Amino acid sequence: MGKIKIEGLTKHYVNRRHKRRDPGDENGYGKIINVFKDIDLEFEDGEMVCILGPSGCGKSTMLRIIAGFDSATSGTVVIDGETVVGPSPDHVFVFQQNGLLPWMTVWQNVELGLRNIKNEALRNETIQEYIDMVELSGFEHYFPSQLSGGMQRRAELGRALAVNPDILYMDEPFTGLDYLTHLKIREEVINMHTFLGKTMVMVTHFIDDALIMADRIIVFNESPAKVILHKKLEYSRPRNIEKDPGLSDLRDEVFMMLGVSYVA
Ligand SMILES: Nc1ncnc2c1ncn2[C@@H]1O[C@H](COP(=O)(O)OP(=O)(O)OP(=O)(O)O)[C@@H](O)[C@H]1O
Ligand SMILES: [Mg+2]
Repeated sequence: MGKIKIEGLTKHYVNRRHKRRDPGDENGYGKIINVFKDIDLEFEDGEMVCILGPSGCGKSTMLRIIAGFDSATSGTVVIDGETVVGPSPDHVFVFQQNGLLPWMTVWQNVELGLRNIKNEALRNETIQEYIDMVELSGFEHYFPSQLSGGMQRRAELGRALAVNPDILYMDEPFTGLDYLTHLKIREEVINMHTFLGKTMVMVTHFIDDALIMADRIIVFNESPAKVILHKKLEYSRPRNIEKDPGLSDLRDEVFMMLGVSYVA
């Protein structure tokens, strides 16, 4: 289950960092930063939703609010008829940075979400399966600080996928991965989505990932962020952007929207 309805979502921050004497100083203390205002969106149960937009436009903030880790200034997020007031154990979040618990090993981090598997042999088998999937065999007993950035990212993805959550939120999950691992893990996420049909909401800077993966893409602009493209993608799978004229045109359109007019 994972139907998400966002209504009138607004977020602003009040700048409390730099206290300045000059009341006319635009960047001064007390200034309100409008991240986004009156956003309405609806995602169907089982959809893979990809959110794109320029850096700093509010993608992570919105994802954190949808997942219940942050609160909105106004507006609501309703999931399967219930208003979100905090994080749910059935919904897993892959953070943009430092999502692993630093005092736990890779094995223990993956085990965290699997404590409901009471049969120890089955639990251990599941942990190993996901550690192998993200190619961290041999590093089970390493702590996050002993891993490279890409390895940490893989461990986090393994942990999230192992939980088999109702909703998976991912904030730039492929950032920091080498190219081949990026493609392999992307394939795993696509397969998992195809077979399990869970709702997934992913923030990404990779336009091609969004076009290959998404059932629905949302593109934001900035200050305050507005939805400039909201499109259901009904292209057959597996997708190939080069071979599908509809997808290549859409790719050009999204690049243009994000300020890149020429892409090789
Ligand atoms: N705790 C905070 N206090 C004040 N301002 C904040 C806070 N968190 C985020 N912001 C501001 O909100 C805006 C949106 O930040 P957010 O992290 O959501 O952007 P983003 O779209 O995820 O960017 P990126 O693509 O670089 O990750 C930015 O202007 C940021 O400075
Ligand atoms: Mg972000």
